[in-house]
Amino acid sequence: MKLFTLDSVCKSFAAKTGNPTRVLNDVSFDVATGETLGLVGESGSGKSTIAKCMLKLLRPDSGSVVFDGIDVPNARGAELSRFRREVQLVFQDPYGSLNPRMTAGELIAEGLLVHGLEPNGAARRRQAQHLMGLVGLDPDNIDRYPNSFSGGQRQRIAIARALACRPRLLVCDEPVAALDVSVQAQVINLLQDMRAEFDLTVVFIAHDLAVVRHLCQRIIVLHRGEIVEQGSREEIFGNPRMPYTQSLLAAVPIPDPVLAQRRRTAVQEA
Ligand SMILES: Nc1ncnc2c1ncn2[C@@H]1O[C@H](COP(=O)(O)OP(=O)(O)O)[C@@H](O)[C@H]1O
Ligand SMILES: [Mg+2]
Repeated sequence: MKLFTLDSVCKSFAAKTGNPTRVLNDVSFDVATGETLGLVGESGSGKSTIAKCMLKLLRPDSGSVVFDGIDVPNARGAELSRFRREVQLVFQDPYGSLNPRMTAGELIAEGLLVHGLEPNGAARRRQAQHLMGLVGLDPDNIDRYPNSFSGGQRQRIAIARALACRPRLLVCDEPVAALDVSVQAQVINLLQDMRAEFDLTVVFIAHDLAVVRHLCQRIIVLHRGEIVEQGSREEIFGNPRMPYTQSLLAAVPIPDPVLAQRRRTAVQEA
């Protein structure tokens, strides 16, 4: 079943001089319920612009964006609040995306309050503590502020926050790009566990093909705002057709951060 569909999405931004720059050119793809889809492309290829169109943070110039029957750019009222609850985003930057004046517990439970899912403050706090445990944070740190957590821990807060309202779709825009390689692997493992735990559909955006290889069953390759290749993980990694995709493969620094992490852990434990 299709959970999310982009059809012929175009988006341009005003340029300082001359004509507007076309950032997305006729982008069409589906996200099937339950799959983990990788969206890969070099910096500036339009990945975040796609994420923003999917999250209703940007309005496409033309084309359609549909989530489970909801016309996203035009959603209002009850449909909009369902959309806001069921589709969640994890950003790249764990420093900029969390309000520094809110505690971990407040950040994680905010959606439960906003969406009226849990009016009782003590119950919200218990749920926030439970979520902290699930994402590998010490629930005793519930009253600490984001700046007292490491980058990887902040990303765990962001993930717990995104999961609090039991979303159906998680859009992760380069969620590990700002983290150390060893921490990247931990956060990817966590996302993989949470996907199973919460029965999630995931769109995972990356410029790093190693990350996508471990997590995603299907991969879309974006180049200058256009989809240039898409296929199963086996097709993309086994037989990349486009030279551009081959160049993204060639740029992979280590074959698989998760396996590398597991190997390191195994060595430490041995
Ligand atoms: N708000 C904006 N105004 C003008 N140009 C933008 C804006 N957002 C993105 N761009 C441009 O659109 C292109 C694609 O950006 P983006 O979607 O962020 O790429 P990616 O996430 O793949 O790095 C880039 O050239 C970027 O400079
Ligand atoms: Mg981006």
